[in-house]
Amino acid sequence: MQGRRLATTDELIAIVSPDSDETLERLADWTDEHGIELSTVDVGDDIGGVYDENRATLGVTLGGDGTFLEGIKTFAPRNVPQLGVNTGTLAFLARVEPEDLEDALDETLRGRAEVDSRQQIHVDAPGVDATGINDVMVQQVPPENPIDRKVTRLDVYADDEYVGEFEGTGLAVSTPTGSTGISLSANGPVHYPVNNHTLQIVPLHTHKLGVRPIVVSPETELRIVTQGQASLLVDGGRAHTILSGDDEIVVTGADKLAHVVRTSYDDHFFTAITKKLGWDIRDAEVPPEKRLEQRSTAKSSRRESKGFVERALTVATEAAEAAGEPLCELHGQVESIDQKTDKSDIVTEADHQADRIITTVIRNEYPNHAVFSEESTRQYGTDTDYTWVVDPLDGTGNFAHGNPNYSVSIGLVENGEPIIGVVYVPETGELFTGIAGEGAWRDGDPIATTDRDRLDESMLISGYDPDGLFLSHFYQESRGVRRLGSAALNLCYLASGSADAVWEHDTYPWDIAAGLVIAREAGATISDENGDPFTFSLETGDRSALLGSNGTLHPALLEHMEDGIQSPTQ
Ligand code: IPD
Ligand code: CA
Ligand code: CA
Repeated sequence: MQGRRLATTDELIAIVSPDSDETLERLADWTDEHGIELSTVDVGDDIGGVYDENRATLGVTLGGDGTFLEGIKTFAPRNVPQLGVNTGTLAFLARVEPEDLEDALDETLRGRAEVDSRQQIHVDAPGVDATGINDVMVQQVPPENPIDRKVTRLDVYADDEYVGEFEGTGLAVSTPTGSTGISLSANGPVHYPVNNHTLQIVPLHTHKLGVRPIVVSPETELRIVTQGQASLLVDGGRAHTILSGDDEIVVTGADKLAHVVRTSYDDHFFTAITKKLGWDIRDAEVPPEKRLEQRSTAKSSRRESKGFVERALTVATEAAEAAGEPLCELHGQVESIDQKTDKSDIVTEADHQADRIITTVIRNEYPNHAVFSEESTRQYGTDTDYTWVVDPLDGTGNFAHGNPNYSVSIGLVENGEPIIGVVYVPETGELFTGIAGEGAWRDGDPIATTDRDRLDESMLISGYDPDGLFLSHFYQESRGVRRLGSAALNLCYLASGSADAVWEHDTYPWDIAAGLVIAREAGATISDENGDPFTFSLETGDRSALLGSNGTLHPALLEHMEDGIQSPTQ
């Protein structure tokens, strides 16, 4: 999977072009059948009156690429994922054909569609402050007298470096999505747009044949200075102006990405290119569709032969990453906090959103497994060997106060034993994973605990420590005791060596199911407060104390804990 999964959909907003009535009727039937609310607006109209930011909205455009671009202008600033149905003619962006509408939506509703985050471009110039998904063109204004000069000169700077003077009919700066448009016709390269955030500058009708397209990062600030009158067009004129000499245009990657929904009913990128641009680089004897079919069969049989555990790890990773996106978006802007048992036991809308995403992904993939989540169902394996144990947001206190130390924790428990752990840190993108008996990794690289054996050289982490006992017992004895705020992540720090030991006075099973696998696989010793092996249990859902260390430090830690540090059940 290249993008994140689109896991939940509460409502649909459709932007509808003229001549899409038949497709709109089918869309309305489909939403009726599925009990999903549908609002429609005409192209160019605002969705402000129907959009509710607290609901998981899917944006749909019915039209061609023009309508899709209008959709991007409307949906991207609100982070609404967008599915384009092509009721127009030639379309690169609206890639679902009307006959596939219901199937593509079914797939999306089941949480099987992907969302590609596409780079956008931002343009700031006199009279224009705009964002586009395709390109920016700076062009010569045709002279009144046709025999007058028809070239323009533009000085271009990348950050503080002077690139040079571009002479021709102008230049285009395009995103990967826009690379198949005007810049292609000026000999620019085609960019495969998935996870590609570069921008490219392409000279138009240049007289200097040695000048080639230049690729820059989205952070690069491109400054284009006009030497005379020039027209500026964003996304084919969706924003435009006429500039004078010495005007400055600043082009850079936009902060907001556009979220494009892809289903298996979209043409693959290179199939679309082959069909639409008449490329002739595939084996003529094997039709492109046939070759694609062979490739995807080979791919899926590879997947089937992959073990259950690898697949489950992939699903858990996708679910955690999908939940991470709204968490990042909501981080630092929590509006309402609900108290559960006491003032430090809190939950926010973000916890629920992340929970809905994770449980939808898991249930779609494993309808027969049990799900035990802090924020929703508390099933555990009576009819199945497998239970998914989920803390959709571990570290809600930090999250609600805008602190980045929080995580998403998903563990898979087989007959009572955690066998897979995924802990994802949305703010840093770090991904900790573990498979019982196979190892533990951070971002795919193996991790291990430290081998430090001196307490006075060790860094300890404490979880909830109500009377400060752990702190008072160890602060003077060690290099430091840190209190960070996400139990799942604390175990990952132990696993990856940035802490030598971890103490949790009272964890719930969802706090630690994933972290346990990761820490144990990295070589950690995990016990209760007395040094007896830690028992993971969902039966009572009770809290328990946990002492984790690199192993060598365990005896020294237990010795210091003898007087007075106890679990909540004692
Ligand atoms: C909490 C955090 C915290 C730990 C608490 C947990 P939550 O989880 O993991 O570090 O000390 O015991 O309840 O409520 O943010 O999911
Ligand atoms: Ca938790
Ligand atoms: Ca939680």
